[in-house]
Amino acid sequence: MKDIRNFSIIAHIDHGKSTLADRLLEYTGTISSHQMREQVLDDMELERERGITIKAHPIRLDYGNYILNLIDTPGHVDFTYEVSRSLAAGEGALLIVDATQGVQAQTLAHTQLALRNNLRIIPVINKIDLPNADIEGTKKQIRSALSLREKVILASAKEGTGTEEILRALVEEIPPPCGDSAKPLQALIFDSFFNSYRGIIAYIRVVNGVTRPGQRIMMMSSGKVLVVEEVGIFKLKMIPRKELRGGEVGYLIANIKELEELKIGDTITEADNSARSPLPGYKEMKPVVFAGLYPVDNDDQESLREALQKLRLNDPSLSFEPESSSCLGFGFHCGFLGVLHMEIVQERLEREYELNLIATAPNVIHRVTYEGRGALEIDSPIKLDLQKGRIVQMEEPCIKALVLTPADYLGSVMKLIQNKRGVFKDMTYLSETQVSLTYEMPLAEMIADFYDKLKSASKGYASFDYEHIGYRAAKLVKMDILVNYDVVDELSLIVSVERADLKARELTLRLKEVLPRQQFAFPVQARVGNKIIARETVGGFRKDVTAKLYGGDVTRKRKLLEKQKEGKKRMKKLGNVEVTQEAFMSILKI
Ligand code: GTP
Repeated sequence: MKDIRNFSIIAHIDHGKSTLADRLLEYTGTISSHQMREQVLDDMELERERGITIKAHPIRLDYGNYILNLIDTPGHVDFTYEVSRSLAAGEGALLIVDATQGVQAQTLAHTQLALRNNLRIIPVINKIDLPNADIEGTKKQIRSALSLREKVILASAKEGTGTEEILRALVEEIPPPCGDSAKPLQALIFDSFFNSYRGIIAYIRVVNGVTRPGQRIMMMSSGKVLVVEEVGIFKLKMIPRKELRGGEVGYLIANIKELEELKIGDTITEADNSARSPLPGYKEMKPVVFAGLYPVDNDDQESLREALQKLRLNDPSLSFEPESSSCLGFGFHCGFLGVLHMEIVQERLEREYELNLIATAPNVIHRVTYEGRGALEIDSPIKLDLQKGRIVQMEEPCIKALVLTPADYLGSVMKLIQNKRGVFKDMTYLSETQVSLTYEMPLAEMIADFYDKLKSASKGYASFDYEHIGYRAAKLVKMDILVNYDVVDELSLIVSVERADLKARELTLRLKEVLPRQQFAFPVQARVGNKIIARETVGGFRKDVTAKLYGGDVTRKRKLLEKQKEGKKRMKKLGNVEVTQEAFMSILKI
């Protein structure tokens, strides 16, 4: 055990975690040169396309006599729960800071998370090869903003500078795991994956004891007993081993077919010699953003249910329950950790499970008190009217937002947050040029387009992290949208009273742009209570995309028509008007 080091790599998004992992894999010969490609651990198609890490990836490196178990983690704020799980599987963390950007919001948030987990942190300044690298400034920030006194390693993950020094620091500074192979088995499940041939594969960190094929094991939360079929370690592929001992990270296969049989955060023990208590596990992440996912083709409802179940195995924070809608048919009301999480889930469902989906605009859970009754949690505006009685109070979930921005953009960033109903709490200068702001603001304002707006208010330089702080009372109303005089339930939203008029005008205008024209003209209206507060008219005549082509180029004409047909796939008919995916998402853009 003294030769094992378990560690994660943490950083703000794009500071170079995956690239640094590539160098470590290459240097230790874990990956041969012909297997090497950029960000080799990001193996999900979506990860490669977007250039971001979504899932944590474990891999084992051999360095001299040492075994290093590395877990690459995602950087985006929606995936913090993945980071917290990876951290609990190790004793140390490499903290990467981009020399051209310095300390950013997630650098701060993840460092605090690692310190809370009592991890040894090794700070690394990356991208020192870039001409605008500010090594001294970044060093200062690591000391002052993060209060880290450790020696800082300078690196360029692109050119390979610093790799050897990092590996040495890992073995010298991170403590080996402390556990006892002679004690009863205790293994923490930190992730899982569904494989159609092998069933559910558990990613485990063995803390005490030994696990091997043939052993009868028990899941400590449910008491379910299973027999181990195979255990092994992670190289680029899974490599079977005779056993996994205390301190090791690896996988376990036990013919687990039922999704309920395995829970991330649970402890595995030996059935016939069980540990007295489970390991601490994880704080369960509750979804905070809700939206409907509907198959465009109603026959796909069962396939969608199966796909959601499989996806949840690998992503325990996803929740779903069946729902039906007059406009969209049968689908699922799903809960996510944030809007990026929602986008990723939708894309994974479509790609990995070949589904064609339509998503309604995301919203948050409101807490509503009706006269003479306690508070109810309402996770969709539609459900607001299903209750009887007068509403005496509405509350909405709020966040504590941490924004780091260069001082030059302080004015425009503060104005933006105030426009988003933010309440100022604190401001600190991390250096002469970098300011940290703390605000409280409604989660609903954040999930709309806050991130994009923050980036444009700061020319891309500001960064942002948040935590949930519970509910705050607010003056809110439900706004309905009528398309051709029919209410489209899925377009309803809950807005703050003082902004209702403005939002109504913006939303009807936006819908006028995105709703497909029909053979006839029809109105789009916004209504609060019984009062129409905004109206636009969508003109008649279907847009003929080929009109301009004068019948000349046949292939081009056909292509355009096919493209138009493609767009139709993501459309549902509402009476005699078609409602598109774009229409649902336009709520977010106002
Ligand atoms: P997420 O997983 O999305 O959080 O990103 P990440 O932190 O893993 O960053 P990634 O390794 O994907 O690198 C982000 C970008 O920075 C890529 O375009 C890399 O090529 C580039 N990059 C990483 N390290 C260096 C470096 O040392 N020097 C230079 N010049 N570019 C680098």
